[in-house]
Parts: sequence; C-alpha cells; structure tokens
Amino acid sequence: MSDPDHPLFARLYDPVMAVPERTLLAKHRQYLVSGLSGRVLDLGAGTGGMFPYFADLSEPDFRVVAIEPDPHMRRQARERASELALDVQIDDACAEHLPYEDDSFDAVVAAFVFCTIPNVEAALSEMARVLRPGGEFRFVEHVRGDGPAGNVHDLLAPAWHAVAGGCHLNRDTGDRFLRDDRFTPTEFSRHDSGLSALVPVVRGTTVRKSDSTLQRLVGAL
Ligand SMILES: C[S@@+](CC[C@H](N)C(=O)[O-])C[C@H]1O[C@@H](n2cnc3c(N)ncnc32)[C@H](O)[C@@H]1O
Repeated sequence: MSDPDHPLFARLYDPVMAVPERTLLAKHRQYLVSGLSGRVLDLGAGTGGMFPYFADLSEPDFRVVAIEPDPHMRRQARERASELALDVQIDDACAEHLPYEDDSFDAVVAAFVFCTIPNVEAALSEMARVLRPGGEFRFVEHVRGDGPAGNVHDLLAPAWHAVAGGCHLNRDTGDRFLRDDRFTPTEFSRHDSGLSALVPVVRGTTVRKSDSTLQRLVGAL
C-alpha cells in the first residue's frame, strides 16, 4: 500500500470546503468534540479540520494526537495547529498501522476519513487495539445515498476517487461500524435531508467492549 501524496487535492481542500464547513459540517464537528476528555486520536487529520474544535475544549486532561499520512495535508495541519496554538502531536502514520500501544487512547475521532482509508478492516482492527475498553469511537462520515442518489454515486465513484484524493463516494461505512462486534453502538444518526441528500452523512459513537465481554459473547456461541 503506497502512502497518499496528493499535492493539488491538499492545496484545494480548504478553499473548496470553506462553505460546506460553515453551513453543513460545523454541527457534526461540534458533536465529535462534545465532552471529549483524556487522550484522543484524530484519525486522518487532513489539514486539521478538527483542530479549531479541539482548541476550544477546556477539559483539563484533554490531549490530542493526530495521524496524517499525506505530507501536503500534514504540513497544512501543522501550520493550523501553530496558528491556533494547539498542542497536538501530528504523526506520519496510516490508520492501518497505528504506531501506538494497546489500550492507549480514551477516544478515537474520525471525520470524513473512512471514505478514503484503503483498508477499512485493518483500520478498524487497529482502532480496536489502541482504544481502551470503554473508550469511544466517534465518527462523522459521508456515505452512499439511497435510491437514485446511490446509483449516481456508483456512477461517479471511479472519477471521484481519481480527483478527490482517493475518496470512495459510495461506501456504506456507517453500516460497517454498527456491525462491528468489538464495539457497542450508543448513538447513530443519518443526515440526508436538504442539501445533505446529495451526499448523506452518518454520525455516531460506538464504545470499545472489554475483552472479557468479548470472551463471554464468544463463549455463548
Ligand atoms: C477528506 S480528508 C478529511 C480530513 C479531516 N479528518 C477533516 O475532517 O477535515 C481525508 C484524509 O484522510 C487521509 N488518509 C488517507 N489514507 C489514510 C489512511 N490510510 N490512514 C489515515 N488517514 C488517511 C487523507 O490523506 C486525508 O487527509
């Protein structure tokens, strides 16, 4: 698997996203950070879209680590962190190979990143490994539309993948998260009215089960 390297996509990302950020995404980012505390991993931080929201948090024990494999995105994320005076460790790493110890995070946050991660299964396994039992996985992801919108997404997906930094327009990531038996879903919502009908968004929280819970479930089979 080659690391992403998309200089043009990285340069255009913030200007293109400026209006959707203000009008559509701000409420979802607020959801991701609400009440967040402890050691938190920002998976695929991009240009640092979550950083202003992290910077506003006042929980005394909040610490954030971010990974971003694309060097162009990572450079912009570092600049944004510096502008915000946000104390964040930004590592060059992929979600499929997290350079962190088992059970070492209280929460993992994913904002519009599982659409792009090449190996979703490997990334989920790594996330389950580094999250402590009881730790939260919070996500907001765009997903394949229903009905005709889904057909259009399927049609556009190859071209979109080529121009949008490897993003898959038609993934059903939310369903995959809900099916994962290493996690207990505690909140889930789908947003597909108004403008969001064009590209529906799912958001939610799942909680890492403890290994003893998992063993009990396996034993009961
Ligand atoms: C659409 S951007 C979203 C960035 C950011 N989370 C945000 O909310 O603005 C997706 C990001 O995922 C990154 N990415 C691609 N492959 C990845 C992987 N295997 N692991 C982690 N991040 C990855 C891309 O480089 C890109 O910066």
